[in-house]
Amino acid sequence: ISRSLANCELLHLARGRIDVALAQKQHDQYVAVLEANGIDVTSLPEELELPDAAFVEDTAVLLDEIAIICRPGRESRLREIASVAEFVKAIRNTHWIQGPGTLEGGDVLQIQKTLYVGLSTRTNPEGISQLQGIVRPFGYTVIPVTVKGCLHLKTGVTALNDGMLLANPAWIDVAAFGALKVITVPEEEPWGANTLSVPGKVLVAASAPRTIELLSGEGCPVQVVDISEIQKAEAGLTCLSVLFSDAASE
Ligand code: GLY
Repeated sequence: ISRSLANCELLHLARGRIDVALAQKQHDQYVAVLEANGIDVTSLPEELELPDAAFVEDTAVLLDEIAIICRPGRESRLREIASVAEFVKAIRNTHWIQGPGTLEGGDVLQIQKTLYVGLSTRTNPEGISQLQGIVRPFGYTVIPVTVKGCLHLKTGVTALNDGMLLANPAWIDVAAFGALKVITVPEEEPWGANTLSVPGKVLVAASAPRTIELLSGEGCPVQVVDISEIQKAEAGLTCLSVLFSDAASE
């Protein structure tokens, strides 16, 4: 978490006071939860001048075969890719989105060999088209999904471990997901759909108690994570990490 987090980009949220020390503490707890769930975590150094840099998800998409270095849709976030790309180059062959294309990883939802990609204020048709060209040789299909009223595709829809989706249909055109089963978040918790699946369970933000009840009722093992201060920066559980497997590169 950057000490400059309070200067983060905001699209739909009004700027409120962010307690950066608390956000850092919540980030530490988030890392501890990932580690407790068997995930090896590499944390990159703080980026003092890049308020949104903790939202690493937006800078790179890691597939088993390759990595795509994104091109964020806001000027203030473009410099975030440098440090992430340095790390990613050591573990994957990298492909880069070029201007005028824009693509943020928060708009990319992978379900096996399908990449659902949000057409949002941050990801444009050119970025999606470049992504399509990069991943097609590796057997991936790209399906654009219209995003309206929220920042990224994964703000409004995430995949649960059993192949079901959790979505807010007010923000996401769920018809794009065809026959996949979609569970709808309670109306009073529009932000609840941003969950993070780890092996055997799904992490859900503490700010979404009704969503937690709903998923538990569906037989889905849930772990609650408090990221209240980080959510003030219009971010969620997926934004704070890029999960990847140790699979060999191409
Ligand atoms: N604060 C997250 C973003 O707008 O990129």
